[in-house]
Amino acid sequence: MKFKTAIVPLFASAALFGATGAWAATFKVAVGDAQGGTQWELATTFKKSFEQKVGGKHKLDLFPNGQLGSEEDTVSNAAMGTLDFSILAINNITPFSPTVGVLTLPYVIQSAEEAKKLTTGDVGKELTENTVRDAKVRIVGWAYSGFRVLTNSKKPVKTLADLQGLKIRVPKNEIMIASYQSWGLNPTPMAWSETFTALQQRVVDGQDNPYITISAMKFNEVQKYITNIRYVFSLEPLVVSEALFKKQPADVQKAILDAGAEATEHSYKFLLATEDKIKKELTAKGMQISDPADGEKEFIAKATQTVWPKFHASIGGKDKLDKVLKTLGRQ
Ligand code: MLT
Repeated sequence: MKFKTAIVPLFASAALFGATGAWAATFKVAVGDAQGGTQWELATTFKKSFEQKVGGKHKLDLFPNGQLGSEEDTVSNAAMGTLDFSILAINNITPFSPTVGVLTLPYVIQSAEEAKKLTTGDVGKELTENTVRDAKVRIVGWAYSGFRVLTNSKKPVKTLADLQGLKIRVPKNEIMIASYQSWGLNPTPMAWSETFTALQQRVVDGQDNPYITISAMKFNEVQKYITNIRYVFSLEPLVVSEALFKKQPADVQKAILDAGAEATEHSYKFLLATEDKIKKELTAKGMQISDPADGEKEFIAKATQTVWPKFHASIGGKDKLDKVLKTLGRQ
């Protein structure tokens, strides 16, 4: 066997002569979350489907739980071509391609169905083009993870008044930081890879993420209370290094895109089939779940009134938000 480096640049993948003499590669896939969550489900489905489509010629190696760096680092590495694929939360790609933030604006997406409609339609296509342009990575699939609910280790939270004084970790995402600011807090921006330890050591009191992620990351071991806020529906794109994608022959590009679409479809069904079960399991493990008082009205009013206008420019103009709302039949 002989390495291919002399002929084409070696990416993160190892490229080798296969038994038939054809080039064969093993591509690396970074996965931000631990095994068992929606990211892992997307990764394993994508791997199976892709490897089948290329007849086993190329392989995918999955690296869960941030083994290949923080989610932000994986975007930079894929852009530079030192990593092949990454699955990460949308909020951690937004700093590299701010227009993607339109899907993270608080209370824009109000159901899993709406999330799917946006990501698989024209809005999703436009955001994919934008991430290629801005971040040098191409979105080829999506995991649907559910609403990000608030957890904390100190007390039940039902109102904005209850929330005051808690130290809440947020991703390094301006929109999410601004959402908590609109609720009167000064949240703590922190990389995902550092979050479990920060909760465990009580550096912060709480955070928000979907039920399935809370379970996969075993946050129930360090958090007690859940509040069912629904300000952000968590989407987790599967991205490929654009430099790597462009170098692939048409059949491999097609296999990547088709496997991504299949894994996306599977992810949606997985969420619908799993979320309620996970909620019950977390309760059985001792977590206490509350709904926000008054149908979340005070959370919604503060966040939408102050955060939406603040980010019109970074998402590419107010008309981008209007297009999303129109697609959802809400204008
Ligand atoms: C974050 O909170 O940084 C992300 O949503 C975590 C994830 O990738 O699941």
